[in-house]
Amino acid sequence: MSVNMLVLVSGNGSNLQALIDAEKTGRFSAGRANNYSPGGRIAAVVSDRPGVYALQRARSAGIPALTEEPDRGLPKTERRGELSFRILRIAREYQAGLVILAGFLSILQGEILREYEGRIINLHPALLPKYGGPGMYGSRVHETVLAAGEKESGCTIHLVDEGTDTGPVLLQRKILVHPGDTAESLAERIHREEHIAIVEAVVLMIFKLKEKEN
Ligand code: GAR
Repeated sequence: MSVNMLVLVSGNGSNLQALIDAEKTGRFSAGRANNYSPGGRIAAVVSDRPGVYALQRARSAGIPALTEEPDRGLPKTERRGELSFRILRIAREYQAGLVILAGFLSILQGEILREYEGRIINLHPALLPKYGGPGMYGSRVHETVLAAGEKESGCTIHLVDEGTDTGPVLLQRKILVHPGDTAESLAERIHREEHIAIVEAVVLMIFKLKEKEN
């Protein structure tokens, strides 16, 4: 059976677009790489922010696009738990086999992490375990990498656990930091690697999930 994928986003959604394009061109199709592949399809997209471009990308591709904003009236822990539970309900509703955090800036916690253990992946714009953790997202990551004088950076796809950016690494792609690089130029080059990495990671996960089934 094909793996239903739930993609979580917060912004532009260029990585979501990479997944949409990969699905369209058959990268997740059953039997494409080997006969045991069950195939995968993006079943729905959820944003924690209204009106972001990622939602439009989903709708243009004919994929259900939902918005689930955090309840800002709740204290932090409850807020995260409550949003995570709403996302879990959506994952169940769409019978998701894989949850993909593609530029999703809320932290998941609670039941979803147990029910979907080993089946939630996150994309991070640095070479974890360096430059991850609370508050490390977007341009702040690249600014910190530059300030530290790193010679290389890149992106990481990892399984999500109870920590922030701490789960087992699935794959990384590296780039060299050039003299004169800015947070923007780094972000741009890393984005290109992310678009490749996220598709590779999903193909890998589809195989892993199928293996577990057997
Ligand atoms: C990506 O660079 C991703 O690594 C980052 O958000 C960007 C989303 O881009 N995620 C994080 O910083 C999570 N800690 P996109 O909306 O164009 O796909």
